[in-house]
Amino acid sequence: MEIITAKSAGFCFGVEKAVNLVYEELRKGENRPIYTYGPIIHNEIVNDDFKAKGVRIIDGLEALAGVKEGTVIIRSHGVPKKVYDLLEERKIHYVDGTCPFVKRIHNIVAEKTAQGEFVIIIGNPAHPEVEGIRGWGDEKIEIISDEAKARAFTLEDKSQKVTIVAQTTFNHNKFKELVEIILGKGYNVSVCNTICSATRERQAEAREIASRVDAMIVIGDMHSSNSQKLFEICKDTCEKTFFVQTIRDLDKTKLKDINVLGITAGASTPNKTIEEVQKGCQI
Ligand code: F3S
Repeated sequence: MEIITAKSAGFCFGVEKAVNLVYEELRKGENRPIYTYGPIIHNEIVNDDFKAKGVRIIDGLEALAGVKEGTVIIRSHGVPKKVYDLLEERKIHYVDGTCPFVKRIHNIVAEKTAQGEFVIIIGNPAHPEVEGIRGWGDEKIEIISDEAKARAFTLEDKSQKVTIVAQTTFNHNKFKELVEIILGKGYNVSVCNTICSATRERQAEAREIASRVDAMIVIGDMHSSNSQKLFEICKDTCEKTFFVQTIRDLDKTKLKDINVLGITAGASTPNKTIEEVQKGCQI
């Protein structure tokens, strides 16, 4: 069986940077204990390793308020402004691992909000990145995740300026569709396509590989939204697309008649996991 692995599979630079920040703080050994604000990435293997090394997870603002010493690492997804405010106010040492692409969105939202604009975030409202982005705006902000919500969007003041941003890992084609719907409403809209290039390239490569293989494997954590989206994209093109977290999830009987197999992985999948799946697929 021929195996084609996407060049873009695995850690993106934002995730790599945040993960390395944790290792760096562990190496320095100053300002202990080390906390991450939420799991550093959506990957159990990496998070279990950090846990074994003593890294603790803070699961929200209330828990953060109880922290008195140590180092808090902000993950690549970023956080709402109120988290920074609390860290500063309590003089808690922190290291910011927010991906620069996400930070750019925070800056856009903060700037447009200060100018009185209405902000639309195209993304998944339950995703921590989107919660973080929302936390840089005020009440004039709405999250739109699907066609129904885009169609239902309405503003009383037709002259209100609107800025659209996107969750960095949002499906590019779906973003364009939702933007078209909103543009059709005739508001004064400016669009900032903030989907990160790493995601775009990963999605395009996954789509291309899925179009020329007999089966496709997407490796990622089940809580990783960018991995889930890769799965959707591949499944659209290649019916036999399987989602696995590790090689243990793969049912090899499904690869019996496969001549060419494609593999890709989400931005929070370590290389080690990708290599294990590659090896495990060799029949
Ligand atoms: Fe950053 Fe893009 Fe990764 S926004 S965290 S480089 S997927």
